[in-house]
Amino acid sequence: MAAPVQGPFIAGNWKMNLGLREASALARQIVAAESEITDCSLVLIPPFTALGAVAAAIAGSPVALGAQDLFWEDQGAFTGEVSGPMLKDARCAYVLVGHSERRQLFGETDETVNRKVRAALRSGLSPIFCIGEVLAERDGGQTLDRIAAQLAQGLAGLSKEDMARVVIAYEPVWAIGTGRTASPGQAEEVHAHIRGRLREGYGNDTADCAIILYGGSVKPANSYSLFREKNIDGFLVGGASLDAGGFVAIAKEALRAYREEK
Ligand code: PGA
Repeated sequence: MAAPVQGPFIAGNWKMNLGLREASALARQIVAAESEITDCSLVLIPPFTALGAVAAAIAGSPVALGAQDLFWEDQGAFTGEVSGPMLKDARCAYVLVGHSERRQLFGETDETVNRKVRAALRSGLSPIFCIGEVLAERDGGQTLDRIAAQLAQGLAGLSKEDMARVVIAYEPVWAIGTGRTASPGQAEEVHAHIRGRLREGYGNDTADCAIILYGGSVKPANSYSLFREKNIDGFLVGGASLDAGGFVAIAKEALRAYREEK
């Protein structure tokens, strides 16, 4: 845990799941358990259609709201797209950018991801900027180079001040939704590399304060050992975030590791 001031940062990416009633019930269950994990920063990331319902369910609690994507223009003739100001208006504080499913299934590139990161910041949102290598890159020994390239291109043009509001999520593509998690050592190697690149590019303050999440088959059983690693500050949880008990258990396990380190 390198970021000095905050406890574990745990975000639940609900992907394309849950209608209004289920989304609101899940959010309410998490709010009800929040007092047991008060040192964590919790973010719920429902589909666009459930943002309003989840915003209402978490109102007055410390749980924050995030969206899964945004478009880089603020408004106009872009049928089907949702902009940063719209998400801000819907009470989002965070937005995922460049999730591997968007890169793989919807043709997002490092260039479009960069436009979205900049649009999120312009709208007052904190982007949760997702990067990660595919299996062939890992097997080919290209992981660290790929990560460095994604960082350089995705964050191009950002100032030090901008960087203070960016959350980075390292999600090896081969570990997402597969049940196959990176080992704590594999994840830590990449997290340390990311922090090192931030140090080179933006200096010690930015690097030391950056929140770097791990994502890819995080569950209660691996949360503790992953969070024990020095450069892992929290998690971006997919499948396991659809169950309040599992999501809260992940946060509790991370908190246990966090408290042991203090
Ligand atoms: P997973 O998804 O936890 O289901 O592997 C993580 C993510 O895609 O953010």
